[in-house]
Amino acid sequence: MTTGRTSDLWWKNAVVYCLDVETFHDWDGDGRGDLTGLTERIDYLAGIGVSCLWLMPFQPSPNRDDGYDITDYYAVDPRLGTLGDFVALIRTAKDRGMRVIIDLVVNHTSDQHPWFKAARADPQSPFHDYYVWADEPPEADTSHKVVFPDQEDSIWTKDAKSGKWYLHNFYRHQPELNIANPAVRDEIAKIAGFWLQLGVDGFRVDAVPFLVDPRHSQSAAAAGLDPHDILRDLRAFISRRKGDAVLLGEVNLPAKGLRKFFGDEDADEVHMLFDFPLMQQMYLALARHDTRPLRRVLEKRPPIPEESQWAIFVRNHDELTLDQLTDAQRQEVFDAFGPDDDMQLFGRGLRRRLPPMLQGDEARIRMVYSLLFSLPGTPVLFYGEEIGMGENLAIPGRLSVRTPMQWSSDPGAGFSSAPAKKFVRPLPGGEYGPLAVNVADQRRDRSSMLNWMERVIRRRRETPEIGWGTFTLLETGSARSVLAHRCDWESSAVVALHNFDGAPVQVQVDLGDVDGVAEVVDLLDGSIPVQPLDGPVLDLALEGYGHRWFRLRGPGTRNPP
Ligand code: NOJ
Repeated sequence: MTTGRTSDLWWKNAVVYCLDVETFHDWDGDGRGDLTGLTERIDYLAGIGVSCLWLMPFQPSPNRDDGYDITDYYAVDPRLGTLGDFVALIRTAKDRGMRVIIDLVVNHTSDQHPWFKAARADPQSPFHDYYVWADEPPEADTSHKVVFPDQEDSIWTKDAKSGKWYLHNFYRHQPELNIANPAVRDEIAKIAGFWLQLGVDGFRVDAVPFLVDPRHSQSAAAAGLDPHDILRDLRAFISRRKGDAVLLGEVNLPAKGLRKFFGDEDADEVHMLFDFPLMQQMYLALARHDTRPLRRVLEKRPPIPEESQWAIFVRNHDELTLDQLTDAQRQEVFDAFGPDDDMQLFGRGLRRRLPPMLQGDEARIRMVYSLLFSLPGTPVLFYGEEIGMGENLAIPGRLSVRTPMQWSSDPGAGFSSAPAKKFVRPLPGGEYGPLAVNVADQRRDRSSMLNWMERVIRRRRETPEIGWGTFTLLETGSARSVLAHRCDWESSAVVALHNFDGAPVQVQVDLGDVDGVAEVVDLLDGSIPVQPLDGPVLDLALEGYGHRWFRLRGPGTRNPP
């Protein structure tokens, strides 16, 4: 293996774990997670095989959008700790071989940010032009453009102080920064440089399509600048400061538009993009017990440059958005996984975690995570997925899935010693509450989700064919419920099979080129670890919602134990 290359482009084969410091682990007993509490849990994360942490915003904020509304880019929210605690966290993570990326939320600030206060107070202030203003809204009706239709009906709000209208694609308390202003672009670089200097390994860039929206760049366009230049400049800047720093972009667009954000042939924009089209089609396939939507989206996935990578995920901290499906398709997913109004959000998504959506069916839940770890790309987990946490629908909006981490069945779930009424957010009860789902119990149970997840992650990390290789969909005859795929890299190949149906199935999988392959090695929990192979067709039985991974072994192929 060309070791240098694989470790240089570390994001191609990473296991990313997203968490919010506030809900992970409380050290000082005030009911709110903190940086010291997280540092205390780094060994747990290293133990399950996480190789990169993604921290949701932890900067000072009025918290009207759970921290995605920042008032100071150069500090830590005092409720979560200090910059000293942050550096201690980074140092501990590095010591355990773990990288750390953080959210870069620079499409907008909080309306409480000193820049916006100055901008409103005085149109002559240099900060006025940090935001996007209009004397009158350029369009009368922008209700179809708002991101959060439950709270907003326009992307323009009149500011009483200045008498002008300001742009905000999200909540009205999140005024958009004007990236056409070179001073703002310099400020963004300074923010990135600051955190890189403190040791982070890159950024999950929030709301990228809005950030490069030409409406913010009218003056840039007039000056002949391409709005994508902001991404190119940012990429060049972070690479100068830290050669292997990564940008992971949040771009929820269909494949064709999405591809642009990697940059041209020379891959000069973001390194990684979340594969929203894949995620949405996966839920449709799950709802239908039919893999064809997933096959189609995989077939249409555009090729990407070698330095680029897809980030794949089952759930994130937002609603499970299904906005790229047709109305009828979305309804199918709603009917299957979130039929109650209260489970749905913004008319486009579900505010649930996976296990309750699949009614706790363990085989099916594991099949989905096996898919996450075997599809080409870098897997991104959301905290608590490794133990199968559920949501708390009593919490409004998107926060239903952001409940405290469930460490044990102790009062307070091992999250905090504070009385429950002081908790940053209430825990769920019932079959997904901490009495039923927690880390401590699952560590002691060999067959638990947590132990299974740890084994799959270990296997994923040993299988660079998935992150680096060439992907091929394999034929399974008439078995529509089975997705079979193969990843080839440096003369090694792995094959994965997933049954989207609850009924067992016998499949004949055409493996393709098996020149030199003597045997197939089961890479997960198969009862027969090694079987001889004497032809290109693998004939095997898959259990209902079963999943299997195999390595095609021959002389000179990779052969981890
Ligand atoms: C995307 C984030 O994931 C979401 O949580 C946030 O509300 C918006 N961007 C605005 O920052």
